[in-house]
Amino acid sequence: MKHGPGMSGLILDEPLLWEKGKAGRRAYSMPDRDVPEQEIDDALTGAGPDFPDLGELDVVRHYTRLSQWNFGIDTGIYPLGSCTMKYNPKINEKMAATPGLAAAHPLLEAEWSQGILQLQYELQQFLADITGMDAVSLQPAAGAHGEMTAMLMFAACFRKRGEQRTKILIPDTAHGTNPASASLCGFTSVPVKSGDNGILDPADVDALMDEETAGIMVTNPNTLGLFEQNIRDVCDIVHKKGGLVYGDGANMNAVMGIVDMKRCGIDAVHLNLHKTFSTPHGGGGPGAGPICVVDELEPFLPVPRIDLVDDRYVLNSEREDSIGRVHGFFGNVSVLVRAYSYILSMGGENLKKASQLAVLNAAYVKEKLKDTFELAYNRPCMHESVFSDARQQAFKVTTLDMAKRLIDHGYHPPTIYFPLVVPGAIMIEPTETECKDDLDAFVDVFKAVAAEAEANGERLREAPVRTKIRRLDETLAARKPCLRG
Ligand SMILES: Cc1ncc(COP(=O)(O)O)c(C=O)c1O
Repeated sequence: MKHGPGMSGLILDEPLLWEKGKAGRRAYSMPDRDVPEQEIDDALTGAGPDFPDLGELDVVRHYTRLSQWNFGIDTGIYPLGSCTMKYNPKINEKMAATPGLAAAHPLLEAEWSQGILQLQYELQQFLADITGMDAVSLQPAAGAHGEMTAMLMFAACFRKRGEQRTKILIPDTAHGTNPASASLCGFTSVPVKSGDNGILDPADVDALMDEETAGIMVTNPNTLGLFEQNIRDVCDIVHKKGGLVYGDGANMNAVMGIVDMKRCGIDAVHLNLHKTFSTPHGGGGPGAGPICVVDELEPFLPVPRIDLVDDRYVLNSEREDSIGRVHGFFGNVSVLVRAYSYILSMGGENLKKASQLAVLNAAYVKEKLKDTFELAYNRPCMHESVFSDARQQAFKVTTLDMAKRLIDHGYHPPTIYFPLVVPGAIMIEPTETECKDDLDAFVDVFKAVAAEAEANGERLREAPVRTKIRRLDETLAARKPCLRG
């Protein structure tokens, strides 16, 4: 590791703090002592931890430089599909930092936590309204956690009915967390192939659904960015055989105020607040995956429930059919505050408009790029669209090469190689918050990359060339990760 700045122009080759430190440096000045000096017992002080000695400027520059290596939604468009990183209004961050909410202690009795309980109670109602469902729990801390909570509830419901159901249908366009969650709860996943048009064919579901099957987990819109337009028929088939339908609603940002999940026939659906409702997605959290259910499943929701009794909010754990707690205290409360603030500041009509704009932007990008990249399914998309590298393979250029080259042009790449049903997938989700000028700029650059693929494939295979660190050996990085720089 080289020390000091200036190793690669203005992109500084930053050493570790341990390498930067020099004995005797300090970042503080102690005020003059105004009490008598005392001997300190050696046993109390000891040698101390192996921390480097650093000056104030060492620390400030180190962290400022590291922050400049980062790319975030405040820096530029982030076209990742499925894991939407959209611009979230800063007012919601401010609300989450409100001292009375941020410092509310989770061990305080309900009697002294009325404000935060009211916020959660009302947020549950808002989410019930938005999805069309009857009851909501805010406890799950992520989308996958919401899925798992629902699967535990399905299992509890069948136990209560005295039925033994061991399998669950999962379409090939479902999010990958769905089969994992089902399996954690003891269900065996049965894959359902989607039709040639990228969506479920009710006849395929009918052929697989039986009395040993708990139901189906449908991501809608699915991971191809397509709306499962046969959802009502699919739900009817599952219900007829006594099964339950799980809706993965992480893509609700495409259908807020437009699709009523209960009317579609869904029995339980989770939302990703860290996608649709103003918490930044990515980086592993924190998030929230509230679970919204129909009346039949309400008794199985996690406890405690927040009830309103004589104008006071109380916590109720006396529910014999509940699956119990799935999170300590109330889940990730600051994420809930952001969602509450987002919903109130937007209002119903604007939430609907946000979804309409998300779909419009995705459709715009799809139309602009479909002559350049192979479109996996040439039909109307929702909030994201999926292309592939099928045309560029003729020049021995892959999705990975093009994604890396986008970085040279200052763009974060879209999601690649997902969903798995499309080989060499390039999944673009522009989100509702990008304006036409910015979308046009992104489209132009992506087209320029495709032109380069044809004219000079070698340049793409070497990309990125303008970053501080060039292309990594991803296999080596996965097999032998070097985490210390
Ligand atoms: C459609 C879909 N379902 C489920 C999930 C899982 O959510 P999480 O990453 O919060 O567990 C995601 C992740 O973004 C998703 O896109």
